[in-house]
Amino acid sequence: MPLSDDPVNPRRNFLKTGAVLGTALLASPVLLGSCGEKHAETDAGLASNSGHISPPSLAPSLPRRTLGRGNASFEVSTLGFGCMGMSYHRGPAPDRKIMRQLLQKVAESGVTLFDTAEVYGPFLNEELVGEALAPFKNTVAITTKFGFDIQAGKDQGTNSRPENIRKVAEASLKRLRVDAIELFYQHRPDPKVPIEDVAGTVKDLIKEGKVKRFGLSEADAGTIRKAHAVQPVTALQSEYSLMWREPETAVFPTLQELGIGFVPYAPVGRGYLTGMLHADTKFYPGTDNRLGLPRFTPEALKANYPFVQALLDFGQPRGLTPAQLSLAWLLARPEGVVPIPGTTKEAHFHENLAALAANIAPGEWTQLEAALAASPLQGSRYPPEQENQTGQK
Ligand SMILES: NC(=O)c1ccc[n+]([C@@H]2O[C@H](COP(=O)([O-])OP(=O)(O)OC[C@H]3O[C@@H](n4cnc5c(N)ncnc54)[C@H](OP(=O)(O)O)[C@@H]3O)[C@@H](O)[C@H]2O)c1
Repeated sequence: MPLSDDPVNPRRNFLKTGAVLGTALLASPVLLGSCGEKHAETDAGLASNSGHISPPSLAPSLPRRTLGRGNASFEVSTLGFGCMGMSYHRGPAPDRKIMRQLLQKVAESGVTLFDTAEVYGPFLNEELVGEALAPFKNTVAITTKFGFDIQAGKDQGTNSRPENIRKVAEASLKRLRVDAIELFYQHRPDPKVPIEDVAGTVKDLIKEGKVKRFGLSEADAGTIRKAHAVQPVTALQSEYSLMWREPETAVFPTLQELGIGFVPYAPVGRGYLTGMLHADTKFYPGTDNRLGLPRFTPEALKANYPFVQALLDFGQPRGLTPAQLSLAWLLARPEGVVPIPGTTKEAHFHENLAALAANIAPGEWTQLEAALAASPLQGSRYPPEQENQTGQK
């Protein structure tokens, strides 16, 4: 059923219908149910918009997915939330009180997975998320990351030495205001520290009850395998979207073999896949890292527009915005991934949440992929020094 009936201004209509759909989706779990997902046993309605924090027990039902296996498994809402942009890398930090309220609305909407990291801010994002989600302590999970050397407020490269992992764990526990870190990711592989030592340190932290689960970010298949042999890995978090499909060949077979979950970051291409960025978009120097990314030069933004146009052409008759289509594509992956789109705007959050109700047949995805393949992308995702920090180099 198309969600949009306004061919003149599909985006405005998408936003309007997205909010309505979001409400229907939350109140009617029957709209969902693909991929054998589970639903929380609650029929509570939407939380109020009055600024009052709903009791967490009234959180509405969203479909769930399980990342990882056995003792390492982690059941979360099918769509998570990336918190980074509220304090870091997406322009000047918006008003803290408004971000706190938005995080609480996201939790009230039934999202249970919130992603942050020590380096976001640094520290500021963990502090914000910890404060905002303290009332939801028993109903949501905050995941965070270690692995950078932060000196005088600046990231000085990787540091996954055991003593640093322990130091970060203690500090993150305090900033997040939790008794144990639900999922502790190594943010980037550290060439100076064997991955077995990293996994062993997190294993000890798990034994001590300070951490519940272990994750990796942007690690290659060999590293994942070695880490998993020491401490079962719950999830790999890496970039994955219609714009960056490298993980499909680089790591998915290993993840599938070992029963490790996957959390795609930058699922709407750092904003590009929403159709809202164009050659004249100005990114703030110092606070928006897109300014230094090859895909966000004015030339690349212009050259890649046919890719966005293909998303608009495919989504419009189906009532989906480019952002919803991009998220729906991820949600339909057979691997059962859990994307963590980030936003600083409530309307965008509702738009993204409504992607859960998209209903696209598998054959139609093939059509979309063929249309996108006709518009090869220009500009790499990271400059070489940042790409070299990942396991994709
Ligand atoms: N492990 C890692 O190394 C790593 C790296 C990067 C990110 N991450 C995690 O992944 C999360 C998401 O990544 P990301 O923020 O880089 O990329 P993203 O989620 O793909 O894109 C976020 C950007 O898209 C915009 N946006 C989102 N929904 C929108 C909508 N419906 N309409 C218009 N614009 C929309 C946001 O702007 P508005 O605020 O204006 O909506 C923001 O600028 C982060 O918060 C972080 O937790 C992890």
